[in-house]
Amino acid sequence: MPCILALDQGTSSSRAIVFDATGEALANAQLEFRQSYPEPGRVEHDPVEIWHTQLACAREALARAGLAASDVVAIGIANQRETTVLWNRSTGAPLAPAIVWQDRRTVVHCDALRAAGHAGLIRARSGLELDAYFSATKLAWLLDNIPDARHQAEAGELAFGTIDSWLVWQLTGGRRHVTDLSNASRTMLFDIHRQCWSDDLLALFDIPRAVLPKVVASSGVLGETDPALFGAPIPIGGLAGDQQAATFGQACLSPGMAKNTYGTGCFLTLNTGQQPVESTQRLLTTPGWRIGARTDYLLEGSVFIGGAVVQWLRDGLGLIERAADIEALAASVPDSGGAVLVPAFAGLGAPWWDGHARGTLLGLTRGVGKARIARAALEAIALQTVDLVSAMQRDGAAPLLELRVDGGASRNDLLMQIQADLLGVPVVRPRQTETTALGAAFLAGLAVGLWRGLDELAGLWRAERRFDPTGSADWRASRLAEWHRAVERARGWAAP
Ligand code: G3P
Repeated sequence: MPCILALDQGTSSSRAIVFDATGEALANAQLEFRQSYPEPGRVEHDPVEIWHTQLACAREALARAGLAASDVVAIGIANQRETTVLWNRSTGAPLAPAIVWQDRRTVVHCDALRAAGHAGLIRARSGLELDAYFSATKLAWLLDNIPDARHQAEAGELAFGTIDSWLVWQLTGGRRHVTDLSNASRTMLFDIHRQCWSDDLLALFDIPRAVLPKVVASSGVLGETDPALFGAPIPIGGLAGDQQAATFGQACLSPGMAKNTYGTGCFLTLNTGQQPVESTQRLLTTPGWRIGARTDYLLEGSVFIGGAVVQWLRDGLGLIERAADIEALAASVPDSGGAVLVPAFAGLGAPWWDGHARGTLLGLTRGVGKARIARAALEAIALQTVDLVSAMQRDGAAPLLELRVDGGASRNDLLMQIQADLLGVPVVRPRQTETTALGAAFLAGLAVGLWRGLDELAGLWRAERRFDPTGSADWRASRLAEWHRAVERARGWAAP
């Protein structure tokens, strides 16, 4: 049976999953890699380690499925977005560690651009909120801080890419320097309306055009792998940012359908159809995918700390031994006992966009122990999501009929019930929660004719469990009011 190899290069780990033509996962492999925090607010990855772990996973997944390269009709790639890599075109060597999307080192640059009145132009062209989250200021930082980099970039000797570009470069033995529309749109250098790199934004961020990758469709064969890697060349047929891929994998293919991914961060996306919808609520307007001549757009709310708050309870506080332990600990108490945790460890994303916000834990009494803090952490994940849905509704979205969920923390039943309760909307978990990889596989499979169209893909999606909301509207409103009081305390904390 023909298979697709999906690569899911995430913030915390590299993954590979082999899917068959029914969308069933046959085998998978996953490797974590090093996270570097060289200074407060800085987050870096080693691009070479990313590549090595990704390649090792791909080979391992194929081996576990008992497949050879010739059984794989296409590779699909989904990736952590915005993370910025700069490498030398001749040697293929990165000039510096990758600056990860969570990295806040360029907040000051963003503040200066905002003070100079450029936020409106940036939003109009890119659909994005001016923030250090996106690649533009990260790339400018690399060009300004690595000796001679700007000069080499102008001479065409350097290549910039988000992780998708970096992986395709490696997979094709340096033959292809491309990105897809969904990833390009997260650089803050791309005009989402004209669908090309924006001269205005390149000038504003002082980025030489010579470093940029070519922008391709999200579904379509863009090249093939170096035969030395898997024993035979494999076409690369799909490329998309992980949140866009997950939206596709959740079959949120018609306007009004939404998914939330509970990964390192939380990313809520709403399909708005073939026209970009401009947000008045500081949500992001972002292309979901381009297939042939058709582009579907999304409204996105990005929360920087989602599942990562559980990692913090485990690694930072030592409250739990394994991430999965949080469910039993939080379930051992009926509520957070008045404790409210705002996990603004990397500032606050949508809808606040406050790079100077910092985490707070409020409402402590002697009755608040680790179980109640664990409960407050789960509630924080859900409450941040509620803020995103409310912002979408203020932007004119129809009331959600259901929220499709995925990502590691979506397997936490208690969190999903808390989410449904606080949202007042049913939460539906699919059988296949690896929807990021599945979306990448769908895009690649469409490109090579394994699937015929969107209807066929929608038919492959299956629900596993639905969480119906409990609790009154009054209860919901009072919890939200308490949460917003805490958010106000967190905002602006680290401002100079
Ligand atoms: O925008 C950042 C996002 O793409 C990262 O996703 O799943 O690696 O947390 P994830």
